[in-house]
Formats: sequence, structure tokens, C-alpha cells
Amino acid sequence: MDKIKIIGGKQLNGKIYISGAKNAALPLVCASLLSKEPVCLKNVPELSDITFLNSLLSYMGLKITSNDEIFNHHSSKTYTYQADDIKELTAPYDFVRKMRASYYVLGPLLARFHHVEFSLPGGCAIGARPIDIHLSSLEQMGAKIEIKNGYVIADAPKGLQGAHIIFSKASVGATCNILMAATLANGITKIENAAKEPEIENLIDLLIGMGAKIFGRGTSILTIEGVKELHSTTHAVIEDRIEAGSYAIAAAITKGRIELINAKAEHLQQPFRTLEKMGVEVLEKENSVIIDARNKTIIGEDIYTDYYPGFPTDLQAQFMALMTIAEGASLVTESIWENRFMHVPELCRMGANINIHGHASAIVRGVKKLSGAPVMATDLRASFALVLAGLAAEGETIVNRVYHLDRGYEKLEEKLKAVGADIERIKEPD
Ligand code: EPZ
Repeated sequence: MDKIKIIGGKQLNGKIYISGAKNAALPLVCASLLSKEPVCLKNVPELSDITFLNSLLSYMGLKITSNDEIFNHHSSKTYTYQADDIKELTAPYDFVRKMRASYYVLGPLLARFHHVEFSLPGGCAIGARPIDIHLSSLEQMGAKIEIKNGYVIADAPKGLQGAHIIFSKASVGATCNILMAATLANGITKIENAAKEPEIENLIDLLIGMGAKIFGRGTSILTIEGVKELHSTTHAVIEDRIEAGSYAIAAAITKGRIELINAKAEHLQQPFRTLEKMGVEVLEKENSVIIDARNKTIIGEDIYTDYYPGFPTDLQAQFMALMTIAEGASLVTESIWENRFMHVPELCRMGANINIHGHASAIVRGVKKLSGAPVMATDLRASFALVLAGLAAEGETIVNRVYHLDRGYEKLEEKLKAVGADIERIKEPD
């Protein structure tokens, strides 16, 4: 398994181009199952999560072609997906265990083909991750759901029916799945307490481009008027706000200055206001954001993760890395996932002073410096937090289990090297 070696202590300066968002691209790719006509997606990031999803969908019969293109001044992939010959309606365990977000096939396949079988994904490093809201909503839309041998078997012989659904939690995944399902249902579906993340707006824009009738974009009440079929369109994946936020912290933790090209400041208001309170300058421009921490003193600050537009849980670990070297104390409260402090013991091995209270709160007391160490994490964002700590630490840090990073950070070493980091991948046989 590959490793990443970092020699810390270099101030990072320069530009980083922000890639298309993983968490936007995954449901967009699955939405192509809703039509027999081709759907063209631009700005798709080259990540292992996308590769896994593509392999599942091509196993099901989706035709996939791709080419390299320049999009918003950086090279990226454009994919064309065509679902005119879907033969397989089962998502097997071997695919789902590698890629939880394969659950995005549920809504589209049930809506269009009235049947789907899907291996239940089980828990993962950050929590139990149930999909009960997805399933109960589909039941409210008339689906008959059975769980057998670890598989969800869902049928809707007469097609899905519009329904009034109230989510118990503003789940991102359930909002995407039910939105997709409702586009081809008979009648009107209303979702209350829908998630409002920018990735959902990106999905709504694609679906509308395909001919869906959706009202309430950007609000927590979505109304979808089912249509008979959807058609071809071309659509772009939005820029990855979590990648942008992660590199913003790379600038802050190394007391450098990075311009995040194509970053959308409006999607990162809470993290950017937090960075400012911590003493970092954030300059929002039309097509970029400049993060300037040169000659600044980083000060501790509290964060509380919440549904969008609250502070994103997917930036909690990275901010905690910054807090480890801040002056004073910071309180981190994680309200979305029940087990998202896996990075804490590893940061402590690098000299951080962090105490976890219960499963939801951690107090970080800033230390003068971190020192490099071999570390590893069990999820994507925690792994990036360790890269950040390595960039700031004295000496050498080896981040193990790099496959987590490859799931969500496109061209990680290339991007960090370009701004002056001493970072390299050590290839090792699996
Ligand atoms: C998405 O996961 C993201 N993943 C996660 O990013 C992100 O952390 C999360 O949203 C929250 O923002 C993708 O977009 C692929 P949820 P998702 O359903 O959709 C509970 C990353 O690092 N819940 O909004 O799975 C759930 O347990 C990843 O890129 C139920 O109880 O998250 C959690 O506590 C990690 N029942 C809360 O809701 C359900 O049926 C929010 O989960 C569904 C969710």
C-alpha cells in the first residue's frame, strides 16, 4: 500500500486549482440511470470513488466514455453516460463495500425499472451510517422493501407514487435518492426537512436540465412533479468545497498564502468566518479565494458541526489539525457522525494536546510545535488532517493507507508540491 512522505516546516505559497466535487459527482453519475439518452458530465474528478462507481454502473450495463478537457482553466475529465441497455438491477456486496455511495442507484433504478437489489453497506469508520430514511421514504412512495441475505430487495410494480415525506434528519444521501426517485414517480412528491448542501443544488440543476420538474431549490422543502421520461443534457460538477477548505487550512497551518482558484466562497461561509476568527486573512474574489496567514498568529476557536449551511463535518478533522498549533484552546463538537475523532490519537502521537469528552466533544490545547511521525487514519478527511499536521510538523511524517486520500483528493501531491510542499508518494506493493 502506498504511503505519503512529508518533510514539514515549509511555508506554502502559490495557486491551487480546485477540482470537481466528489460528493456532487457521485449522485450526478447515478442520475444518468434515469434516462435512456446520453448524459454528459464535465469537471468530474479523477478519484478512486468515481472509478469504483463507474465499474459498478458499467457492470449494470451503463455505457461510459470519457475524454480529457480543460474546464475552468484546469484539466479535468468529461464523461458521457448512456443507460439505454441496463441489464443488471443488482448492486453486489463487493462493489458496495468499497463504495457506500453506490446506494445512489436505489432511487433511479427503482423509479425507472421498478426493481432494484442492493447489498446493505453496513457501518464504516465514522459511524453506523444507516439508510433507514432512504428506505422508509421509498416505502412511502409505494415500494415494497424486503431485506434478505444482506440485500435490500425493492419492488414497485406499478411505478413509484408521489408522496408527502418528512425526513427525521436532513440527510444528504436520502435527499439525493428521493429527489431522483421522485422525478419519474406518478404525481407530486414533497420532501420536508430536505438537506440544502450545494451538492444537492448541483443535482437539482442536472435533473432540471434532463427535464425534471423540481421546485424549492436551495430550501428545505422540495416539490417534485413526476414526468414520464427524462432526456439528454450536458452539465458540470461544482467545485469541491471540502477540497477548497482543506487547502485553505494548508495555507493557514504553514503560515503561507494560497489562492484557491475556482473555489466558491459562498459555499464555505462558516469555515472562512472561523478561519478569520483564528487570525487568518480570507480574501474572496470573483473566481478565487486567497488565504493569507503570513506573519499571523493563529488563535484557538470553537466549532460545532451541523447541517449546511452550518459548519461542515467534512472539515472538522482538518480544522482540528490547525487548532493543535493555535494559541489557546478550541472546543470541537461533532454533531453529525458519532465516531469522527479517529484522527485524535494520531495527532496526539505528533505532539498535539487533545482530550475527547464523550463521543461528541474534544478540547484542543494549542502546542508550540508538532513533530513528524508515522501515522495512519481510517477515513478520508482524517487522513488529510494528518497530511496537514505533517506539513506543519518538524521532521518527517509518513502517512500510511493513502488509498483513503485517493478516494477524495485529486492530484494531492502534485497540488501541494506546486505550492512548495516537500511531499512524495512512496509506492509499495499491496
Ligand atoms: C454525505 O454522507 C457525505 N457523503 C459525507 O461525506 C458527509 O459527511 C455527510 O453527507 C454529511 O454532510 C457523500 O456525499 C457521498 P447523511 P451521507 O445521510 O449522505 C444519519 C466525506 O468525507 N442518517 O447526510 O451518508 C447519519 O447516520 C463523506 O466525503 C440516518 O440516521 O450523510 C448521519 O448521522 C463522509 N439515516 C446523519 O443522518 C439515514 O437513512 C447525516 O447523514 C441516513 C442518514
